[in-house]
Amino acid sequence: MNLPDQMTAICIAEPGGPEVLKTCRQPAPQIGPADVLIRVAAAGVNGPDLAQRRGHYAPPPGASPLPGLEVAGEVAAMGQAVTGFALGDAVMALTNGGGYAEYVAVPFGQVLPVPHGWTLAEAAALPETWFTVTQTLVMRAGLEPGMHVLVHGGAGGIGGAAIQICSIIGAHPIAVVSAADKASYCNRLGAIATIDRTRENIVDRVMELTDGHGADRVLDIIGGALTAVNIAASARGGHIVQVSTLEGATVSFPLRTMMAKDLTLSGSTLRPQSARTKAGIAAHVRDNFLAALSSPDWIKPELATFPLDEAHRAHVAMEQRIHRGKLVLLTEFGAASQAS
Ligand SMILES: NC(=O)c1ccc[n+]([C@@H]2O[C@H](COP(=O)([O-])OP(=O)(O)OC[C@H]3O[C@@H](n4cnc5c(N)ncnc54)[C@H](OP(=O)(O)O)[C@@H]3O)[C@@H](O)[C@H]2O)c1
Repeated sequence: MNLPDQMTAICIAEPGGPEVLKTCRQPAPQIGPADVLIRVAAAGVNGPDLAQRRGHYAPPPGASPLPGLEVAGEVAAMGQAVTGFALGDAVMALTNGGGYAEYVAVPFGQVLPVPHGWTLAEAAALPETWFTVTQTLVMRAGLEPGMHVLVHGGAGGIGGAAIQICSIIGAHPIAVVSAADKASYCNRLGAIATIDRTRENIVDRVMELTDGHGADRVLDIIGGALTAVNIAASARGGHIVQVSTLEGATVSFPLRTMMAKDLTLSGSTLRPQSARTKAGIAAHVRDNFLAALSSPDWIKPELATFPLDEAHRAHVAMEQRIHRGKLVLLTEFGAASQAS
């Protein structure tokens, strides 16, 4: 494969709204000995991309300043230390940034084969949310079969991944949504029940659905006043996993209830984790979830696709919160692959 010196990418011209995302020409990335160069077909859009665009989530030292934390495409080149992949392989990857581009270099430990039966656009929607939920809810909070899990933002990217990971493990996800169509979507993904936060009391419904036991695990992206709700809805020995703070990062909550219930509250951001940690998460996803994802009756996330040079429209859509599932950008190569 002839590799170009230059590529088309999406740059953040300055911190701001979706309009600061500009199509630009950039040098194609150089690969290190342990990197895979991926010819990008599709790049997933994620909440952290919006935070980076607004100037609130700086790339870690050494990472690409371009947005884009997950991609799918084909292997275009490999460093000498890379094992397990061949040129032309269809892959998906958690990037360290730089996914909104025609090429991206990724440490090979963060690259996985595309699940059987998935298009590249579908596969690009997977790594960021599945890695986040795997690291936090599964590896750190020890999700086990039979646990009841309260999942906030159930119809979004993180929420959908949490519902499906619970289903694979045999846990019971209860999804919080704001509309009937989002509830139906969560049910299709495997939620055992949904709670409409606009008209139902979350704690009462969790207690009703768990026979008074409470939620063994909570996956929260909201924070703010919801933190006290999560504590009240938790079962004894529960664990609240915080991966975002959309409604408030500084909260006051009842420590005594946390103590009395023997609760754990943990938080994490994926992007600054080391390559070694990310490779460990990738291995967990590969060994525990890839077979289920490849089964013929697997329900894939709903997708809305946008051409790469209309990334700003995808960001507007995510901010409007009307989508279910995931938003994905297609390069010219990706659009051609979709059509063929
Ligand atoms: N810690 C990490 O490493 C990590 C990794 C990836 C993502 N994240 C963060 O996780 C959050 C969710 O990401 P996502 O990809 O799932 O986003 P998404 O696809 O936009 O989904 C967010 C969901 O939350 C619901 N929601 C409830 N209250 C909200 C509010 N105040 N603002 C926005 N949405 C609200 C929305 O539906 P309704 O409004 O209809 O309920 C929506 O379905 C983002 O903030 C993202 O930055 C963190």
